[in-house]
Amino acid sequence: MNIAELKKIAFSEIEKAKNPEDLEKARKTYLGRKGELTAVLRSLAERPAEEKIRVGKEANRLKSELEALFESKKTAFEKELLAAAAKKERIDITAPGKKVSRGSSHPLSRLRKEAEDIFGSLGFEIIEGPEVETEYYNFDALNIPAEHPAREMWDTFWLGKKFLMRTHTSPVQIRYMEKHNPPFRIIAPGRVFRHEATDASHEIQFNQLEGLMVGKDVSLADLKGILEQFLRRLMGEKIQIRFKPSYFPFVEPGVEVDMLWNGRWLEMLGAGMVHPNVLRAGGLNPNEWQGFAFGVGIDRLAMLKYKIDDIRLFYSGDLRFLRQF
Ligand code: PHE
Repeated sequence: MNIAELKKIAFSEIEKAKNPEDLEKARKTYLGRKGELTAVLRSLAERPAEEKIRVGKEANRLKSELEALFESKKTAFEKELLAAAAKKERIDITAPGKKVSRGSSHPLSRLRKEAEDIFGSLGFEIIEGPEVETEYYNFDALNIPAEHPAREMWDTFWLGKKFLMRTHTSPVQIRYMEKHNPPFRIIAPGRVFRHEATDASHEIQFNQLEGLMVGKDVSLADLKGILEQFLRRLMGEKIQIRFKPSYFPFVEPGVEVDMLWNGRWLEMLGAGMVHPNVLRAGGLNPNEWQGFAFGVGIDRLAMLKYKIDDIRLFYSGDLRFLRQF
């Protein structure tokens, strides 16, 4: 084939290419290592001197022409691709946005978060425990043996004979002590359950926040200081608290803590120094370690703080209620 013919066929094939793949195939046919034009250039060596010069010149010119043509065709394809992609991905920045409906945190979550932040800043670690407990963790390990009358204070829903819905967050004390060495300070917020006739201030489920601090010389004075800090920061600087003796089987001495709110003393939480039997159940030696524990009702605090007069509203799922927060 002579150069002129080669040129004609090559040009028409390049023109016919409909996509980058066709184009690349054509390029290989003529300019590739085994391509037609490449073959011509290689064969030059065997030709007579005068032909070598003439055909050589023509072949080289064709080579640059073809290369230029491939380049421009290739650029054209790329432009087309880009244009198509741009069209597909076009963003109309003047279109009105889609409205994202925003939820709000539940008042109990909000209060819990605030409480966690305060205790966090006082060096307490946040721990969680299971809502379904064993009789052992909920009662026995907390110094409440079977048949102990104190069990009546925490009537709950039993799941068979050994499992129950925890009646308080205190079992987390035992679970934590079993696995950790003092000194430590933790809080354990979470849901608890009681067998209750419901009314404005009683629900079959509510939320508590347990606290436990154990060390060599942690005292009732520390308990008082920590709780005063907590209640002040959560409920307002003017809060006053008072301690009065009380009874819980898992503390000795036991106290109840009242808070002065709108001129009235309200009972806010139970607390005390961890009972030696409870330390023992947690695997700690009571001659070596001591500490305090407390349990505060999150619902109670939220009701006061956000002025909610019926605890049942928290669990009603009523959007008119929830949207206010
Ligand atoms: N667990 C007790 C309750 O639910 C509260 C409490 C916790 C009391 C820790 C003393 C110490 O009533």
